[in-house]
Amino acid sequence: MHVRDKSPQLGKTKYALSPTDQDALLNARESAHDSVTLKDLQQRISDFTGCNLKSTALSTVFSDGTPGSRVMLIGEAPGREEDEQGLPFVGRSGQLLNKMLASINLQRTDVYLSNIVPWRPPGNRAPTPIEIEICRPFIERHIELAHPKFLVLLGGSSAKTLLKTSNGIMSLRGKWRSIEIAGRLIPAIPLLHPAYLLRQPSQKRLAWQDLLKIKKNLDIEDGSQT
Ligand code: URA
Repeated sequence: MHVRDKSPQLGKTKYALSPTDQDALLNARESAHDSVTLKDLQQRISDFTGCNLKSTALSTVFSDGTPGSRVMLIGEAPGREEDEQGLPFVGRSGQLLNKMLASINLQRTDVYLSNIVPWRPPGNRAPTPIEIEICRPFIERHIELAHPKFLVLLGGSSAKTLLKTSNGIMSLRGKWRSIEIAGRLIPAIPLLHPAYLLRQPSQKRLAWQDLLKIKKNLDIEDGSQT
């Protein structure tokens, strides 16, 4: 049985949910829980009507890359190109993300990609805390079913949501933490969002330092470093 959660916590701030939002959250939890495969989850998210973002979006953006990859990257929300094409990270920030991955010898097909919310917020505004909370059961189940070895949290929104903290991305970036999903602790590292790096190219050196930490982790797993 589900317990009605009147004030979910995002970081340290509490947000009151309206009765309609509470129902949407319960429906999202049930729907996510009942999904047994990624395909099933994708269909259930596409059918979900409890998040207002869906009404203005062209597509439900579920994932790209290879399910079952060791690395799962999670961004904030689809932008215009992603909404048009129905795939995450295909616009300008996606192109930079591809280059960031290539810098540590990863192709897009070597990783799995998704977002905290699957619908584009109108005008590319940030998703609200309530929209994020309503969609949280979906991304948590998505991670569980994709079963990555570790997570890369792209940008502040993704990092704060999944790490359940109100700390900023500048203090979170580059530090390994872990997230408990369905009883499993999954290592997770926040990384500066490529959209931010397009606006602030001088910060790319910080992203480079953090990418090297991801590479080191992969190398250790591959046994190419002690
Ligand atoms: N920014 C994101 O966070 N996700 C996308 O899919 C595209 C841009």
